[in-house]
Amino acid sequence: MVETLNSKNKIPINQQQPVLQVRDLVVEFKLEMGYARAVSGVSFDLFPGEILGIVGESGSGKSVTALSIMRLIPEPPGKISNGSIRFENKEVLELSYPEMRDIRGNNIAMIFQEPMTALNPVFTIGMQVRETILTHEKISKKEAQGRAIKMLEKVGIPDASARMKDYPHQFSGGQRQRIMIALALVCKPQILIADEPTTALDVTTQAQILELMLEQQTQIENSSIILITHDLAVVAETCHRVAVMYGGKIQEIGTVNQIFSAPKHPYTRGLLASLPSSTSIKDGKLYAIPGNVPSISDMPAGCKFCTRCEEVIDRCHQEEPPLHVLNNGHKVRCHLIEGEADE
Ligand SMILES: Nc1ncnc2c1ncn2[C@@H]1O[C@H](COP(=O)(O)OP(=O)(O)OP(=O)(O)O)[C@@H](O)[C@H]1O
Ligand SMILES: [Mg+2]
Repeated sequence: MVETLNSKNKIPINQQQPVLQVRDLVVEFKLEMGYARAVSGVSFDLFPGEILGIVGESGSGKSVTALSIMRLIPEPPGKISNGSIRFENKEVLELSYPEMRDIRGNNIAMIFQEPMTALNPVFTIGMQVRETILTHEKISKKEAQGRAIKMLEKVGIPDASARMKDYPHQFSGGQRQRIMIALALVCKPQILIADEPTTALDVTTQAQILELMLEQQTQIENSSIILITHDLAVVAETCHRVAVMYGGKIQEIGTVNQIFSAPKHPYTRGLLASLPSSTSIKDGKLYAIPGNVPSISDMPAGCKFCTRCEEVIDRCHQEEPPLHVLNNGHKVRCHLIEGEADE
């Protein structure tokens, strides 16, 4: 079990009016056999000042959810076939291309899992960071240049001023990750979506980058973060709430305390049991959830986790469980749980 390390430092969140509301989001990809769902009815709120963690094994639909909020699902083969994404009072899925461009970077920014998604190989780093600033703010080129250098220094690019004229390929993988983080933070977004922001980095740098993201958040009033990560210890330490995804659905959502101290879904319990600890190592081996995440073309009809669940009952194979509401916003999608259905 992971302890909440610095919960006393967590800023209070305003649970009244969400800054982002995702409802019934469905995203499909065209495969040989037809369309298959990568995200299948995802709903959640993000509150001002909140850090929401999204966890789940590889292929569970985390990045596809994040890319949908940015309207960056490659179309084709993908399509957002249902749902609503409301940012402040705007329906993101109905915005025009220029309206969406204004929101991207300025209001909602994303740190991508793969740095080269965000960096253009044919422009210098200086030009890319400067242009990001100039697209959203009416300041002089010289001022933008100064801000760009400062931001690159902040994310730990040595000799930032001299390196402004270098191209992405002239930086190391870790440095490219830092530059992408600079690009995401430079316009002080209200929502930062960080998709595995530190995977490519060494442990020391990971800690520095997380610290930087959290520090920036406290400097932008009421700004929020969606943090997608495989690192449950980081979630326990930094997030207010956590959504656990599997098979393109939220299987459990709640506060860090609810999820880490009283996990209800067998999948969440499996994920937590896979964490290295004195109790999770049996006969010298770390516990692992049996089997693999099914491909989107081969999802079970009932509960998406039924093929790997150690507590499976017949009903799980036939019927998809609804999201049951427990106390204080804790929700769980499992037939073994009693509670009013949310959907
Ligand atoms: N362009 C695409 N074409 C076809 N299938 C896709 C495409 N992008 C994503 N998928 C599928 O959608 C599912 C969800 O993918 P997603 O990238 O959201 O997973 P993830 O939870 O972010 O995993 P990871 O932890 O590995 O980043 C996967 O099964 C993936 O193969
Ligand atoms: Mg991903």
